[in-house]
Amino acid sequence: MTTNQKLKSWIDEMVALCQPDSVHWCDGSEEEYNTLAQKLVDSGTFIRLNEGLKPNSYYAKSDPSDVARVEDRTFICSQNKADAGPTNNWMDPKEMKQILTKLFAGSMKGRTMYIIPFSMGPLGSNISKIGVEITDSPYVVCNMKIMTRIGKKVLEQLGDGEFVPCMHSVGYPLIDNQKDVAWPCNNTKYIVHFPEEKSIWSFGSGYGGNALLGKKCFALRIASAIARDQMWLAEHMLIVGITNPQGEKKYIAAAFPSACGKTNLAMLTPSLPGWKVECVGDDIAWMKFGEDGRLYAINPEAGFFGVAPGTSMKTNANAILTLKENSIFTNVALKDNGDVWWEGMTDEKPVHLTSWLGKDWTPDLNENAAHPNARFTTPAKQCPVMDKDWENPAGVPISAILFGGRRASFVPLVYEAFDWQHGVFLGATMSSETTAAAAGKVGEIRRDPFAMLPFCGYNMGDYFKHWIETGKRTEPYKLPKIFYANWFRKDENGKFIWPGYGENIRVLKWILERTEGNNNYIESPIGRIPKTAELDVDGMNISPETLEELFRIDKETGLNEVESIREHFKKFGEKLPKELLDEVNALEERLRKM
Ligand code: GTP
Ligand code: SPV
Ligand code: MN
Repeated sequence: MTTNQKLKSWIDEMVALCQPDSVHWCDGSEEEYNTLAQKLVDSGTFIRLNEGLKPNSYYAKSDPSDVARVEDRTFICSQNKADAGPTNNWMDPKEMKQILTKLFAGSMKGRTMYIIPFSMGPLGSNISKIGVEITDSPYVVCNMKIMTRIGKKVLEQLGDGEFVPCMHSVGYPLIDNQKDVAWPCNNTKYIVHFPEEKSIWSFGSGYGGNALLGKKCFALRIASAIARDQMWLAEHMLIVGITNPQGEKKYIAAAFPSACGKTNLAMLTPSLPGWKVECVGDDIAWMKFGEDGRLYAINPEAGFFGVAPGTSMKTNANAILTLKENSIFTNVALKDNGDVWWEGMTDEKPVHLTSWLGKDWTPDLNENAAHPNARFTTPAKQCPVMDKDWENPAGVPISAILFGGRRASFVPLVYEAFDWQHGVFLGATMSSETTAAAAGKVGEIRRDPFAMLPFCGYNMGDYFKHWIETGKRTEPYKLPKIFYANWFRKDENGKFIWPGYGENIRVLKWILERTEGNNNYIESPIGRIPKTAELDVDGMNISPETLEELFRIDKETGLNEVESIREHFKKFGEKLPKELLDEVNALEERLRKM
């Protein structure tokens, strides 16, 4: 299969440890995908959807306990605890290896071990990185085939080179004639990263970011640690190209926390005539400076693992069109005609469904038919608005970086950082309501710096420093301008006051005009906000009062925010860059002068 000695001996070692019945090297072919999908149909994990309505597509319900990332079971096991920092769970690597070795021992009994060579980024690009995932889950293989580039061609590319070993087991061995279940998993879960060794071990979950190890584990946690050493950036960001009616095109990258609007912004249908939006990526960006001094971004993924609820022809038509075939739907609801449905897909609810829990569902039940973190897995190349350069190994040049989150009050619709350092401050103090993308309470405000709180593979204080240092580059380097957005401000009745989705193009337009240096802003204590007349609301049904409310900055709330930022910063102790303390002091001063 391979001449790669490191790979061969790792596989031998893992076969001896996990004791699978058989070993299958994934070639990445369509036949292989179809065979595995059929196997999943036979075992009850997959239901084949109506071939006429959703060709070559499948439906899966997870175990009700295995529906999201498990942040409290996620570990960064660096040699020194300080290198994991105050925001990550840590355990001594030796101790952790002992625990994992016990858990993985015999964990694949009665099952097949799949070996998936995968490339994050276009095959053969010098930005791309190769990993090999070992898993006992055919569901994981099918998802990895859509989300990354896998198989024989990756092994050939790898040759005798370096790869990141990614070890995964659902932790449900078939022993003593135990019958298999549709969604095998284990109550004990560990999602573990060894940043020095650059390896990943994941046990007990079959779901998304816990199990598709190329995504959050490799492309963010491991890659962020590599990026720090090599002076580039691995970020939880979408990448999008925007063309104005004059035909001028610019790219922006945007970091919003999980389930806060990246996929939607990445493929939005602009409400403003003459504007065009094209998608490069919807979740992860790897960014490096090019020879011309500009920052270039690639999307290391090949598919979308997107939030289903809320996705409709009205909110995100391009996602719906992408999903027309060759897709996997997990924890959505099943229609009687063999198609899928979720909350927000249509104004009218179907009269009968099978819910994500497998129960009969009717609208009068007043409960969700799909889980709030139900997801689709779908090939990026099927998206009607993929950018022509989405697989360009050189990446696309980034003109602006946007941060944002889900905040019901205080944070305006959009504002611009005064400079790079202030922009890093905005990233470092990002806050958002928690969502169903991670296990735990939903709707609580937490600080989620750069949308990387769950994904930074090293000390977040050092990560802030890395961003500050990045901005100290002078000519010929050209730094993108930094902005902050909030689509989620609510009125006193709890209703969103900004319509969002396709209307967000109005905010992007203002941002692009700022990158041209237009004098379309006024200074506020927290940053530059649009001059009232400069946010294009033409053809929109929005009152001057609402607009004012979207940008209202309340002094008292602002000063409370300053206190909460100081608390947040305390966590980082000595590691907090002094520049960020300067920024919070300056913010307080500006607010006091209001
Ligand atoms: P991850 O895949 O978890 O990283 O999420 P994401 O950041 O890609 O979020 P996504 O675009 O999937 O949106 C999450 C939820 O927010 C969906 O239910 C969307 O319908 C909703 N949403 C997205 N954009 C907007 C918006 O502009 N306004 C409002 N009100 N809701 C939005
Ligand atoms: C997220 O939670 O940010 C996701 C989904 O994109 S997962 O792949 O589960 O991390
Ligand atoms: Mn994400």
